[in-house]
Amino acid sequence: MSLSLASTIRLNDGRALPRLGLGVYLSKGAEGITAICTALEAGYRHIDSAAFYDNEKEVGEAVHKWGGERDSVWLTSKIWDSDHGYERCSKAVDRSLKKLGLPSWDLMLLHSPNPGKAARLEAWRALIDAKKAGKVRSIGVSNYGVHHIQELLEAFPQDPPAVNQIELSPFFQRASIVAECAKHDIVVESYSPLGKGAFVDLPELQDIAKKYGKTPSHILIRYVLQKDIVVLPKSVNPDRIKANADVYGFELDAEDMKTLDGFETGSGITWDRQFHACLLALALPDACCYSQLRRRLEPQTLDCISSYSAHIKPRLSRP
Ligand SMILES: NC(=O)c1ccc[n+]([C@@H]2O[C@H](COP(=O)([O-])OP(=O)(O)OC[C@H]3O[C@@H](n4cnc5c(N)ncnc54)[C@H](OP(=O)(O)O)[C@@H]3O)[C@@H](O)[C@H]2O)c1
Repeated sequence: MSLSLASTIRLNDGRALPRLGLGVYLSKGAEGITAICTALEAGYRHIDSAAFYDNEKEVGEAVHKWGGERDSVWLTSKIWDSDHGYERCSKAVDRSLKKLGLPSWDLMLLHSPNPGKAARLEAWRALIDAKKAGKVRSIGVSNYGVHHIQELLEAFPQDPPAVNQIELSPFFQRASIVAECAKHDIVVESYSPLGKGAFVDLPELQDIAKKYGKTPSHILIRYVLQKDIVVLPKSVNPDRIKANADVYGFELDAEDMKTLDGFETGSGITWDRQFHACLLALALPDACCYSQLRRRLEPQTLDCISSYSAHIKPRLSRP
């Protein structure tokens, strides 16, 4: 598979979406602007923001500061759950554009299906109209399961989503959603492709990284690209931003792709409050904290976390 940082994927509305983008969740203020400028200077041409991240203004400012052609970069935002329904969603698009300070977004997503069927279908109708009005150039969804996609296609057969952005990594491969998207020519975007950076010390992953002279993060990003899926690693660290784009001089062979497929756990981390509590606790070198944490976590979540990394398990087992 021949890929480069300039590679794009064709959407069902005919537009070309860059296959690698910078995620900007938690990238705010001057740090966020520097991160986006660093990425654009390094050759990234795709930035993934959201109203929920409260950094749409920073995206517009960074593009301006960078000074390149507006149309050479792909800018995505998302409508938060509290703005579902037709009127609220229409207003949210306008608000978001005002913050961006540019005439249009390249892609606007419904951030999640959580507000319920009636509200999300009305929000989708608002996005169709925003697209007709030229405020957004492509429209899509995020965190949609198979039945949400089917429901949307049934209600709006002429206006399918171009994209479904979901958590996806070797640890959580989402096979049924990926297959449903492929069936309807909907491009899948992977968020949290690095598992939020928590699992880079998994020994099998380290072994594959050593084989290619790469880091575990490179392997995780490359895995997604080789699945023909758009990938959105996040970093605010200039060195890591540049390093995360260095995934084109090698190709994972079939055997290593199979090993990575074997990392599937069946569970995600990003919308999982238990897992966030765990990561927070792991950051604190206090044994008492681990025992408190073990009491708070459900056994199922502990199993899931343990299966991610042999490194995390012993730490959770401390008294
Ligand atoms: N639609 C949704 O519901 C949704 C949900 C979550 C995320 N997203 C999107 O997807 C993007 C990425 O997902 P994410 O932010 O959840 O997680 P991620 O990209 O899997 O991981 C980001 C974490 O990994 C660290 N990191 C980055 N590069 C690294 C490297 N080379 N080595 C070690 N650590 C590294 C980052 O720290 P530093 O910043 O310090 O480098 C950060 O803590 C988000 O920013 C957002 O745009 C969408």
